[in-house]
Amino acid sequence: MATKISFLNLKGGVGKTSLLVNVASCLAYMGKRVLVVDFDAQSNSSIWLMRLDRWNALNRNPENFILNVFKENGSSLRACIQKDVVRDTEGELALKGLDLVPASFNLMDLEHEVPNPWEKPFYAHFYEELQEVESNYDYIFFDCPPSFFHAPQCAVFCSDHIIVPANPDALSIIGFHLLIDKLESFRRQSRKWRDMLSAPEAQVLGVSLNAVKPGANIDVPLERFNAQIERFASQNKVPETACVFPEQIRHSVTVGRAVLQGLPMVLMSKREASMKVAEDYILTTQRILSLTSNSESEAENGESLHALN
Ligand SMILES: Nc1ncnc2c1ncn2[C@@H]1O[C@H](COP(=O)(O)OP(=O)(O)OP(=O)(O)O)[C@@H](O)[C@H]1O
Ligand SMILES: [Mg+2]
Repeated sequence: MATKISFLNLKGGVGKTSLLVNVASCLAYMGKRVLVVDFDAQSNSSIWLMRLDRWNALNRNPENFILNVFKENGSSLRACIQKDVVRDTEGELALKGLDLVPASFNLMDLEHEVPNPWEKPFYAHFYEELQEVESNYDYIFFDCPPSFFHAPQCAVFCSDHIIVPANPDALSIIGFHLLIDKLESFRRQSRKWRDMLSAPEAQVLGVSLNAVKPGANIDVPLERFNAQIERFASQNKVPETACVFPEQIRHSVTVGRAVLQGLPMVLMSKREASMKVAEDYILTTQRILSLTSNSESEAENGESLHALN
């Protein structure tokens, strides 16, 4: 069974896509089988992983995109999967084992314009589609927009865990509160379908701080995040084990450069030895692995990450 994780924060631009693309790539680099499902109409993770030219070319066939899974007489999820998407500029495989269900800008139609022909909510339909493919993967990651409409609801309904990328600032802490409230009401609203389908109940795994400026003092926001998590844990809204990951992703202009090159940081780092931020992503991957692995596979994970470092 794949471990399914939504990268979600109702605040925009906090590093959801960057974290997802880079952790997914680290896992694939270690030999894990990873599927990324892009649930954001901005299509940022699709464009990063496929590079703009291949994503543009794919746009000639709209049936390849996630939106089509929700349409009457549309595609199966399986048919939308782009295999081994990370390639170099010549189209040669650059990273094995990272597959993608891409989004296009039309995904925003799911929120208002696409009629629902399934006699069940979109999230229940998507859950059934995902079941057809999930045994092919170790990890399935959902890139979510900064909202909580149909598309991110599909992601959350299917997820075991939620990772909350955030910046160490006051607005991110307010956003975290709102997110937990939304998750609670969605849990209540979707209970009937969760019970019928034996779907998991997504729990917050942790907060991953992103774009932390080297030397910046983040003691105050860190304290506030921890206090919030403790309060939510005492109200059973997040598990006792939820935490702010001790590993942080530092601020680095090389993240933007990696998007332009269509490469994850773990592949860039081979070329630019000084890229400490790639190490941050590796350490965060290690954290996520240790929080989601069973004890049997932990020794194996330790070895693979050692090789990666
Ligand atoms: N560690 C970092 N250092 C510097 N810039 C970063 C870092 N991580 C992400 N960025 C930049 O911040 C911007 C937002 O990042 P990203 O797209 O990952 O956020 P997001 O939460 O997915 O945004 P959205 O809510 O729009 O989907 C991008 O321009 C990205 O290049
Ligand atoms: Mg994003």
